[in-house]
Amino acid sequence: MTFLLARRRSPWATALLLLLALVAVGGIYAAASGSTQAEATAPTASTTMIEEGRELFLEGCSSCHGLNADGGYQSDGTVAGPSLIGVGAASVDFQVSTGRMPLAAPGAQAKAKPPIFNEEETAALAAYIGSLAPGPEIPSPDLYDTTGISPEELALGGQLFRANCASCHGASGKGGALTDGKYAPTLANAVPRNIYQAMLIGPQNMPNFPDTTLRPEDKRAIIGYIEAIRESPNNGGVDAGRLGPVTEGIVLWLLGLGALISVAIWIGVKAK
Ligand code: HEC
Ligand code: HEC
Repeated sequence: MTFLLARRRSPWATALLLLLALVAVGGIYAAASGSTQAEATAPTASTTMIEEGRELFLEGCSSCHGLNADGGYQSDGTVAGPSLIGVGAASVDFQVSTGRMPLAAPGAQAKAKPPIFNEEETAALAAYIGSLAPGPEIPSPDLYDTTGISPEELALGGQLFRANCASCHGASGKGGALTDGKYAPTLANAVPRNIYQAMLIGPQNMPNFPDTTLRPEDKRAIIGYIEAIRESPNNGGVDAGRLGPVTEGIVLWLLGLGALISVAIWIGVKAK
């Protein structure tokens, strides 16, 4: 009996070792690729960048925000664009990279749309406004990189999301209506950098959450949670419908194959 058990254990041990080795290799690879991403730094503002940004601003933004970015008025005295002194590079990067600015026409709320400026121009505009007065900086990638986030951090992110965001954006981040024709948009499409910035600056009717209210690690946990509920099959939708059967198929296939191998090993051991 003990002989049988010992014989039976060894093939399993080999299979288990192989599996562990595969998982370990995958883990090391993920950790390695994650750390190279985190090392990338945000572009730093140079004088040429600031000058380029000023020119872009004069062309595309000054008609509403004023020639010195200190606010512009329409002929009837109403504000065409608020002062941008002190809003910080983060606010410009958020507004321009989500396509909200330049505002096409005055309305209830600046809508997110495909951006008009490319990354380089956006960075230049942000550098120019950032050079006028201190304000929130563009967050560095390691602050919002959620690679390798732990289940505990995700749970924390969920708590913080329900406490601080769900009232406007909905429990599943699908968005919701506010008063006066304004709305909290869906979070399904926001990229991590923009989610971090939205918390930092609080665009329009959204309150801001400075690091004293939500620590950088809290913001990262919230971003991880938002990404997780997007992928959750409970949300339904096309993506889950497309992925579901495939993943289920793989699981069934592996289980079936596992069962066949078990039977083969069992027969082999029995035969001895
Ligand atoms: C047609 C007028 C118009 C143009 C053009 C325009 N803006 Fe604006 N901008 C506005 C208005 C109005 C607001 C306030 C919007 C709101 O409350 O939703 C605003 C808000 C902003 C904010 C947020 C300010 C804050 O308090 O955080 C930034 C940053 C900004 N604009 C940058 C730009 C940049 C950069 C450009 C050029 C690429 C630009 N805008 C072009 C009208 C304009
Ligand atoms: C009081 C309501 C309110 C709360 C609370 C709130 N938001 Fe918002 N949020 C808004 C509104 C309104 C906008 C749209 C602002 C605009 O268009 O200028 C917005 C925009 C955003 C965007 C930009 C999405 C896009 O389309 O680019 C993100 C990301 C975001 N919020 C995340 C959060 C997170 C994370 C929290 C919690 C920490 C939160 N919000 C809490 C009202 C809210």
